[in-house]
Formats: sequence, C-alpha cells, structure tokens
Amino acid sequence: MTNPLRIAIAGLGTVGVGVIRILVSHQQMIAARAGRPVEIVAVSASNRGRQRGVDISGYDWVDNALDFAARDDIDIIVELIGGSDGVAHALARQSLGRGKPFVTANKALIAHHGMELARIAEEQNIGLRFEAAVAGGIPIIKSLGEGLTANRLTRLYGILNGTTNYILTQMEATARDYGEILEETKLLGYLEADPSLDLDGIDAGHKLAILSMVAFGVNINFDAIYMEGIRRIKLVDIDYARELGYRIKLLGLASLSAAGLEQRVHPCLVPDSAPIAHVDDGVNAVVVDGDAVGRTFYEGRGAGEGPTASAVVADIIDIARGHHGPAFFVPAQGMQKVNLISISDRVGPYYIRLHVEEQPGVIADIAAALRDKDVSLHVMLQKGSEQDGSVYVVMVTHDTREQKLMDAMDQINALSSVIDKPLAIRIENL
Ligand SMILES: NC(=O)c1ccc[n+]([C@@H]2O[C@H](COP(=O)([O-])OP(=O)(O)OC[C@H]3O[C@@H](n4cnc5c(N)ncnc54)[C@H](OP(=O)(O)O)[C@@H]3O)[C@@H](O)[C@H]2O)c1
Repeated sequence: MTNPLRIAIAGLGTVGVGVIRILVSHQQMIAARAGRPVEIVAVSASNRGRQRGVDISGYDWVDNALDFAARDDIDIIVELIGGSDGVAHALARQSLGRGKPFVTANKALIAHHGMELARIAEEQNIGLRFEAAVAGGIPIIKSLGEGLTANRLTRLYGILNGTTNYILTQMEATARDYGEILEETKLLGYLEADPSLDLDGIDAGHKLAILSMVAFGVNINFDAIYMEGIRRIKLVDIDYARELGYRIKLLGLASLSAAGLEQRVHPCLVPDSAPIAHVDDGVNAVVVDGDAVGRTFYEGRGAGEGPTASAVVADIIDIARGHHGPAFFVPAQGMQKVNLISISDRVGPYYIRLHVEEQPGVIADIAAALRDKDVSLHVMLQKGSEQDGSVYVVMVTHDTREQKLMDAMDQINALSSVIDKPLAIRIENL
C-alpha cells in the first residue's frame, strides 16, 4: 500500500471528535477506499485538559493550530474550529499557501473567504474541500459539482438551518408560541453560540452563498444576500397558514436567469402538497432544478456529530485519492460577479397578518392602503376577538411587486388602529 495520508485536526468539539471516531472505527475500510491509510498525526483545541470522549493520547498535541502549516510530517489540515475570521481564516491561508490541502466544515469561512481561498488552492494545485459546510450529511456540494455537472442549473432552494426548522416544527406540533420553544431550544443546546446566526437567517445565508457559487459558478458578495429570520413568526401565523393550505418554512432560495442572480433567505408559506413542506425538525433538504435532469430532491440530517463528520471524512478520502480540482468546480479566476436582483423586485403572492383594534372602519382603511399601492386581495380571514378586544386579520394577495407591498405595509402600520407592526410572509408556490 502507498504512503499514508497524514492529517492534522484543528478543533476537537462536536465535529472534530466525530471525525476521529469515524477515522478510528472505519480505519481499514477507509484505507481501502482511499487507496492508502489515513492517519491522524496531530490535533489542536483550546483546552488541553478537556475530556473529549475519544482517546487522543496517540496524537501530537499542538497548542497553536497555526503551527500545523509549517510541519513536514503533516500532509493535510482539517479545520473544525469555526468562525469566518480569526484562527480559522489564518489557518486556511497558511495551510493552502504552504501547499497543504485544506478540509473544513466552516460555512462562515467559505461564504466570506471562499473565493480568496479557492484562488490560493488553485495556484498551489491542491484541494480545498467543504462538503460539511452545507446541509451536514447531505452530499450536496458533490451532487451539484459532479453528479449534476452536465446541467445548466437554474434554481435551487432548501431548508438549510435545522435549528429554525426545529423551532417552526415544534411550534406547530405542540401549539406553543415562539418564545417558549426558543427557550426549550436553548436548553437542548441546538442554538449557535451567537443565536442570531440561526434566528436571523445568517447561517442559512452562508450556506446559500456556497450553494450558489457551486451551482452557478458565480462570485458571490455575501453581504448582498437578503436575509430575514423567524423571530416575528407567531403561532397564529402557523395556524392561519395551515388553514390556508400552507406550512411555514425558513428557506434559502437562489436562481440565475438572464436578468441576474436572485438570492434570499426568509420564512415562506409553502403549499402543504410540496415535499419540502414535510421536512421537519432538524432535517435539511435541498431542491435543485437542472435543464436536463429536471427536479432533484436531497434530504438528510443537517447537523450533529455523525452527519457532519461523515461529510468531512468523505472530503479527506477525496484528497487521499488525489482529487484536487477547483474548489467550486470551475476555476476561481473565471467566476464573475453577476447582476443581483433586489428583493424589492420580487413578484409573487404574500400572506399578511395584521393585529388591529376591532373598530368600525379599520378594514376599510386597510383596504384603501392596499388599493392605493395596487395590491389586490385574494383571500381575507378574520376570527373571533382576542381577550383584549383586538383582532387578527389575515390576507393573501394576488401576485404583487414587493416594493408596492412594502409601501402599503408602511401606510397600514401608520394607522392608529394597528397594534403590532404588520407582518408579510412571501408565498412560494413551489
Ligand atoms: N456541530 C455541527 O452540527 C456542525 C454542522 C455543520 C458544520 N459545523 C461547523 O463545524 C465547525 C466546528 O463545529 P463544532 O460544532 O464542532 O464546534 P464546537 O463543538 O464548538 O468545537 C469547536 C472546537 O474548536 C476548538 N477551538 C476553539 N478555538 C480554537 C483555537 N484557537 N485553536 C484550536 N482549536 C480551537 C475548541 O476547543 P475546546 O474544545 O478546547 O474548547 C473546540 O474543540 C464550525 O465551523 C461549524 O460551523 C458544525
């Protein structure tokens, strides 16, 4: 058998420990598939004394992970620390700059610095791999870059954040409001250290940026992606959505057309008949449309030790096999920035939820504001009053340009009878 592939692992948390477990327990099978043994040489984390549930005594402990890059006895560096900048970014640059292939699960790093790192990897003719960064155990990067490579890909969308999908699913399943489920989610340890990454759609935005780069071969400006999270969704919205034949899901959606690239993350009403409406709890799903293949659907566990480590080890095996093609499957130099379509140009139907005082003339005022902005209604629902005498009114519009809808919402919000800021949720008839 040929020389072993000697790896260093930076970060021994959930994913790092999972990678060690798979590499140790599947050692022989991996050597056979990789065509050479894969050996862990060195590891690094913050706290040397921490019990990790795996035996790391046989590996060289390194206090500063950046030292990996200079060592001749390390062939490849696996970064499982996290964060778009700091040590993870420095380690990626130094590793690739010194000609060492780099594997990471770090979506923030690739969303912000993927192009820069891909260029360095290509200059050095070595691999940069990040399968685990999107949708955990689902091999979506390879599916886009290899399995679907014969297709012009036009659109993709998916449930890319398991935590928010868990919150929305639990709200519906247990008829409890957002705040209560959020507290439970915190206790279960499902939220990122910075909860905003999950709750405000930023984590899903990182993953959408990576998917767009791979699927469309375009250079993405992460800051230009429209991102809106789930903080304003109430149980009443989930109930009304169900009554209207929809479920609420936080989706990342991207499409490329002659007009440009559309990229957005936000809650959506999706028809109950759509397969993605039934992807629940921590499960992720991605739907990809290709011109030859048609629609394809990928579903699986989007996070956690096993699924994420499964993807990381697959990347390590890829490198052991000698694969070192471009990180985004086309040369980074050729990836151009394309025109971005603004969210205000979206055209489609909207769900609107209003919380208003029950007084004569309220509905007429709201209808006038919508009419002024050419927003026409398809459905209006109103149930009995709340205990305080207020009432929820729900409307579904016909296709409307988003800017007009937002202008109408501002006008409605200014009415004295409106209690909470009105909520609009985009309806995606997928
Ligand atoms: N967890 C998931 O389900 C999942 C899914 C997909 C992608 N990811 C990505 O995978 C990466 C790792 O996630 P995780 O959940 O495993 O994180 P984690 O459990 O918080 O582990 C992070 C590890 O990094 C170590 N670390 C922190 N600063 C370091 C430094 N300066 N040098 C070396 N090590 C350092 C920590 O050391 P100590 O243990 O000593 O504190 C810890 O072992 C992140 O990029 C994350 O976004 C995670």
